[in-house]
Amino acid sequence: MSQEKNFIQRLISCLSLFKQPTHAWVIAVVCMVLVALCEPMVPALLQPLLDKGFQQNSFSVWLVPFALIGLFGIRGLGMFVGQVAIAKVTQNGLLQLRVQMFNRLQDATLSLFRQQNASALGNTLVFEVQIGALTLVNAMIGAVRDSLTLISLIAYLLYLNWKLSLIVALLIPSVAWLMKVLSRRLYMLVRSSQQATDNLSYAVEETALAHREIRLHDAQALQTQRFRNLGLAMSRLALKTTVANAGITPLTQLFSAVALSAVISVALLQSQDSHMSVGGFAAFVTGMLMLVNPIKHLSEVAGPITRGVAAIERALELINHTPVETSGHFHCEKAKGHLHFQHISVQYQPDHPYALKEIELEIKPGETVALVGSSGSGKTSLANLLPRFVEWTQGDVTLDGVSIRDWDLRDLRRQFAMVSQTVVVMNDSLAANVALGKEPDRDRVVECLLAANLGDYLQTLPDHIDTLVGHNASTLSGGQRQRLAIARAMYKNTPILILDEATSALDNESERMVQDALQKLQKGRTTLVIAHRLSTIENADRIVVLDAGRIIESGTHQSLMNIDGVYASMFRLGSSGNLQAS
Ligand SMILES: Nc1ncnc2c1ncn2[C@@H]1O[C@H](COP(=O)(O)OP(=O)(O)O)[C@@H](O)[C@H]1O
Ligand SMILES: [Mg+2]
Repeated sequence: MSQEKNFIQRLISCLSLFKQPTHAWVIAVVCMVLVALCEPMVPALLQPLLDKGFQQNSFSVWLVPFALIGLFGIRGLGMFVGQVAIAKVTQNGLLQLRVQMFNRLQDATLSLFRQQNASALGNTLVFEVQIGALTLVNAMIGAVRDSLTLISLIAYLLYLNWKLSLIVALLIPSVAWLMKVLSRRLYMLVRSSQQATDNLSYAVEETALAHREIRLHDAQALQTQRFRNLGLAMSRLALKTTVANAGITPLTQLFSAVALSAVISVALLQSQDSHMSVGGFAAFVTGMLMLVNPIKHLSEVAGPITRGVAAIERALELINHTPVETSGHFHCEKAKGHLHFQHISVQYQPDHPYALKEIELEIKPGETVALVGSSGSGKTSLANLLPRFVEWTQGDVTLDGVSIRDWDLRDLRRQFAMVSQTVVVMNDSLAANVALGKEPDRDRVVECLLAANLGDYLQTLPDHIDTLVGHNASTLSGGQRQRLAIARAMYKNTPILILDEATSALDNESERMVQDALQKLQKGRTTLVIAHRLSTIENADRIVVLDAGRIIESGTHQSLMNIDGVYASMFRLGSSGNLQAS
């Protein structure tokens, strides 16, 4: 968001989101004008009533209720229809904004998810825009309606007595100045409150995610204390906002009182030597008193408008300022699976040590290459380069001889299946989870589940493959989740397979089942396998040992054992994780 743009410009760009549907706008505007025109009718009716109503026979009495009920009937109908029309416009704009934001989540560079956690994004998409759209549109509509009322009342007053009306007109610039000063402060407070809300919801998210750890480590009191402090920060901001907001009304009313007393004094003085009738005077004072309400509303409108603009801008920032993943133009249905890392270096942040340094590695179609190395040596970073989850700093990575940056992103990602340590399961049916992103082919889903050794599990399900696996499938065991990921990879049927510590979290029994399923999966595919337990990769065509982002050894199991280097000592310990301890 550019601070240089003034508030009016920013307000207009926020409001421009709520342009459709046109017919609802037309109805809303007609209704608003109608309602505004009804306002001066009350004092206008008062004048003949007072001047003529109390003289006999000049006026039929039944006209009074007729006019009053008719007037309020029309005004009420206008308000009702107008409100519904505006709600339609608001909801329409809101939905479009939400969908645009959601789309941006899908094509944003992955750095977005490192900068913003799930609850902050949830807040923006679910709550902020909702509150923003409702408050902004309602406040704006209120402001327009009150301005129209004000204009029609002032026009009526000018018609009655223009000299007196000039005094009233002085009110407007002073109120405008006051609103400008206070709304600037309100805007800053609202931005801080958004951050505070994010922090508070993240504390809740964290507690939900780590509920077991928190209980096990007896960290409840500390978490509560943190939550309290965050809540306290929020209440402080809310109080400051109230102070800024609450100041506006009394100050405006004070201005109004000054103007009112001036008008009444002048009017009384004037009436002694002018020919203003009693009815005329009563109509003028009534009309003037009716000004107070719209002025009061207008003076209060700065708060909600500021709040609304800040919320909508947060959404617009997400849409307009989140970098989008870049895609090349090379199209290919199915790759052969020839991978080449050409002197690749990866640095996550400037000044940080290189996660990968000058990696030169070629993998032929159908070859199985295992990556081993201690934790933090860069194995996952290397694997994540392939579907472009990680961007490199130097070098190039090619698939079938084409730099993966030149590949069409969707085509590129279609070439890989990934099974990693953590398996994310969607809140959907088992079939939808296996076919992830595609319309499930039921026979193939079952086939893949069986091949992934999930046949027994399938028997226990009430609705077979249509059973909902639920929120991140907390009912599945670690091994079952892993096999679900394998079934997913089988269903995707890609030329290249990436296995990142797919079995390291499993006990021996489930590892055997998973391993068996993995072997079926690997058949005929180029495979990059990262394994913690070295016994599982002995049969790989080639084993590459990474240390601190560099390749230090490479060869078959037998050749590496023969040179008796790092791999050989790791193998004797049984796992790559123990290297540092050795
Ligand atoms: N998203 C990230 N941002 C910053 N540094 C990262 C990120 N991911 C990994 N690293 C760093 O890169 C190095 C290699 O990590 P990783 O590839 O996960 O190693 P491995 O999978 O071998 O354990 C580590 O020092 C890690 O701290
Ligand atoms: Mg890793």
